[in-house]
Amino acid sequence: MAERGYAKGLTQYGDAGFSRFVRGAFLRQMGFDRVDYEKPIIGIFNTYSELNPCHRGFIELAPAVRRGVLEAGGLPVEIPTISLGETFLYPTSMLFRNLMAVDTEEMIRAHPLDSVVLMGGCDKTTPAQLMGAASAGVPAVFLAAGPMLTGDREGERLGACTDCRRLWGEYRAGRINEREMDRIQGQLMPTAGTCMVMGTASTMACVTESLGMMAPGGASAPAAYADRLRIGVETGRIAVSLVERQLTPEQIMTPHAFENAIRVLLAIGGSTNGVLHLTAMAGRLGIEIEQAVFDRLSEETPMIVNLKPSGKYYMEDFHKAGGMRVVQHALKDSLHLDCLTVTGQTLGELLDEPFSHPSWQDVIRPASAPLQEKGGMVILQGNICQDGAVLKRSAASPELMQRTGRAVVFDSLDDLDARIDAPDLDVAADDVLVLRNAGPIGAPGMPESGYIPIPRKLARQGVKDMVRISDARMSGTAYGTIVLHIAPEAAVGGGLALVESGDRIELDVARRRLNVLVDDAILAQRRARWEPPRFDTARGYLRLHREQVQQANLGCDLAFLRPPMRQKLA
Ligand code: FES
Repeated sequence: MAERGYAKGLTQYGDAGFSRFVRGAFLRQMGFDRVDYEKPIIGIFNTYSELNPCHRGFIELAPAVRRGVLEAGGLPVEIPTISLGETFLYPTSMLFRNLMAVDTEEMIRAHPLDSVVLMGGCDKTTPAQLMGAASAGVPAVFLAAGPMLTGDREGERLGACTDCRRLWGEYRAGRINEREMDRIQGQLMPTAGTCMVMGTASTMACVTESLGMMAPGGASAPAAYADRLRIGVETGRIAVSLVERQLTPEQIMTPHAFENAIRVLLAIGGSTNGVLHLTAMAGRLGIEIEQAVFDRLSEETPMIVNLKPSGKYYMEDFHKAGGMRVVQHALKDSLHLDCLTVTGQTLGELLDEPFSHPSWQDVIRPASAPLQEKGGMVILQGNICQDGAVLKRSAASPELMQRTGRAVVFDSLDDLDARIDAPDLDVAADDVLVLRNAGPIGAPGMPESGYIPIPRKLARQGVKDMVRISDARMSGTAYGTIVLHIAPEAAVGGGLALVESGDRIELDVARRRLNVLVDDAILAQRRARWEPPRFDTARGYLRLHREQVQQANLGCDLAFLRPPMRQKLA
């Protein structure tokens, strides 16, 4: 069996000659001829979907990739897979990240592909495609959709979805009326592309470029810019060159590359979802990332990117300021420069190309004058979160970093929805809002509901932030003093399950502690009474998910898709 091109991975009829013959006949059905039989086949995994508006630009971008593949002598074939449009999926896109990863992996493996271009961008699509490609072991390069341009509200720039949340908060507090909200709704997503703040999509694009899995500059070029098309063409050429080099994801996504990516995640004030996704992606290659790594590197890494929700600007500004290249230059002394990239060059070689830090801009600071001295993320431990929890300190209120308050507990998303705005809710501004049973198994799929709304009656009094804790996730576009990813989650009996309204909860970010201040003996009594929730998941993917999904500290992959760990980032 040939190892390359159309004769690779023959359909099994018990007669290899017939398999080759009939496959050739079907290639001719597509308009190819014998000249094409000799070419490497490049799979373009195009996740365009009419219910994924962030990928709307793929209609124009995919032909650019095809052109790059053809120019370099490859045979481009477009293959659809599952697509995940963040706000169109019930109950949450995260439930389907692993399903998309399975789809991607199996379609790479089953088809006669010599390398693949992964076209993704909206939050979960990026990790899903990279997890699938990592497991499939075929050369791969990622191409992001690119961010949207900003919208406008009488001279004020608007960006999804930090401003969606901020303005929704204003509306809830009664400061914006219905008519104005309707106008705002038409301005929040004004072009094709992914959310244009440093949310999960932008975060994952930046960490993917820093992993070496993307064409240089590919993280930031807006979807509407010609730069994006040129990066598409370049990505097509790279995909063909990967075939000659036989450069697989495993050779690029090494432990050192993941360490580089974590430093970038922290330096850009990236989304907390990046913690989950990087852990899951590394896990596919047998690389265990201990949660403590995020905390350790956060102490050593300055936050230098001034983008919402932690800062001021948007992705188009980041691109104009030089994008990832400037970030990597600023961090150069702490990065592993020997890491290979899809270009065939090492990171060090890429950074050696002529360059000067653009001094006119305030979007990406030099490491000597950072936005914050330390990275954006901390990992907490305590009797509520025995296997850890995450807090994005760059988006939190400094005055709430050390706080002891009374717990106001919501037992589920339905409970939260039913009571959060009730006029008789017993809640004060210095309380701690607690949401549980919103984790990977409990909710299911760990929705982005950790951004618990400020109770309406407090919002109307002007309260803008409170300590909020949960086993859920939060959108990368959100902000506040919000503890997330509590593990183990309440649905499997983690410490969060034992908290009762009225308990005192202590958050101490400096000491990395999150505890409920209740005697161990009382907690033991509560544990003895605790009963696990019952789920009605008799069939389908949801059953597989609930049986196999791992906890947040392991990245929420399905257990049977993670190989034994061979290396550790500690
Ligand atoms: Fe697609 Fe934000 S909803 S990137």
